[in-house]
Amino acid sequence: MAIKSLEDLKKMREATLAKVQLREAGQNVDGNIEVMIGLATCGIAAGGREAMQAIIDQLAQENITDVRVVRVGCLGYCHSEPTVQVNIPGEEPVLYGNVTEAVAREIVTKHIKGKETLNDNVLMQTFTKA
Ligand code: FES
Repeated sequence: MAIKSLEDLKKMREATLAKVQLREAGQNVDGNIEVMIGLATCGIAAGGREAMQAIIDQLAQENITDVRVVRVGCLGYCHSEPTVQVNIPGEEPVLYGNVTEAVAREIVTKHIKGKETLNDNVLMQTFTKA
């Protein structure tokens, strides 16, 4: 979006603040779905930031607000970065690896929205939440 006026700038600021709020807190913190993204140096180098942005963008597109996106350090699967762990209350956490931007968007549309695990990218499915 090109900024051509103060009004454009204000709109962009509001949209960005809404995304930051979504990323940091979700709509109500208790009982929220949590998406953890491994952003240690290796995760960043492998495209973790792009995966995180894709998740945040897809959540906004789908109008999903009960998800908290959390940046974390190494999740222990450095060979499969970027890694993303999805914690849905009452369900086993799922850890995904090799999360490209396309996979990140599928995590939102299929796993979080559709309650369907993306089998091709699962690293671990039954473990204690980190
Ligand atoms: S991501 Fe760098 S040590 Fe695991």
